[in-house]
Amino acid sequence: MLAMAEILTVLEDQVLSISFNRPEKMNAITRGMYAQLAQALKSADQDFGIRAVILTSEGGSFTSGNDISDFLEHPPTSEDSTVAAFLAAIHNFTKPLIAAVKGNAVGVGTTLLLHCDLVVAADDSKFSLPFTSLGLVPEAGSSFLLPRLVGYQRAAELFLTGEAFDASYARELGIVNYLSNDPYQKAHELAIKIAKQPPQAVINTKALMKAQVHDSVAAVMKAEFEIFSLALQSEEARSAFKQFLSRKRGS
Ligand code: COA
Repeated sequence: MLAMAEILTVLEDQVLSISFNRPEKMNAITRGMYAQLAQALKSADQDFGIRAVILTSEGGSFTSGNDISDFLEHPPTSEDSTVAAFLAAIHNFTKPLIAAVKGNAVGVGTTLLLHCDLVVAADDSKFSLPFTSLGLVPEAGSSFLLPRLVGYQRAAELFLTGEAFDASYARELGIVNYLSNDPYQKAHELAIKIAKQPPQAVINTKALMKAQVHDSVAAVMKAEFEIFSLALQSEEARSAFKQFLSRKRGS
């Protein structure tokens, strides 16, 4: 039997939908999935037939973040890693990027939203940034982007406690544009609206809005990556990963 692709893409009406498709693992993202995501985004950027991209998911969750077994067995240690390629791809993506979130958006599942232009979330979706709880540090430029978006104290609470927060708080913080009982449908409507706009004007407008912070975010991502790679090897992190992976056996 052929294995199902863990990243799915569908192009319709000049809108590309990219889906996490590993629902049995809550769409935890593996090294291979990051590589496919990076490739899909790069191709979409170069394809004149694509005007907007939706990041979405199969099953009940958006994504539970980086695959924790991969963190233990294949920790990304160089900037040539596939996770770094994915983060560079969303950071440099020139076209509108819209996320449709349902269920859990954990770790990079929340930090990637800070690179999206619009975010639609299900009313009962949950967000969390458990980096500190896992012995890690924020990534994807989030140590810069989150305080800038929501204010230092509110970002500090989310990062330092690692506690999950709900969709209405995510909206209040400005991480989410819309709450919807059908986030993909709403994201698709928005994507179609934008796809009908003059495409070069859309690209230029996004570039202008991002220009002021683009290089600062790249520098922060580089610094975060260095500390994150070291933290991955630490006892604090490795024991947190082992605890997560063995929690069912232990319970
Ligand atoms: N990496 C690897 N496996 C993961 C995973 C992850 N990030 N998230 C979930 N899974 C696996 C679980 O181990 C479980 O596998 P199993 O059925 O083989 O035991 C399966 O996915 C289902 O997850 P489960 O925890 O049973 O679902 P839940 O509905 O009770 O909880 C979450 C969902 C997302 C709250 C919970 O899975 C979770 O906290 N995941 C870890 C998130 C995390 O810390 N990510 C890293 C951020 S840096």
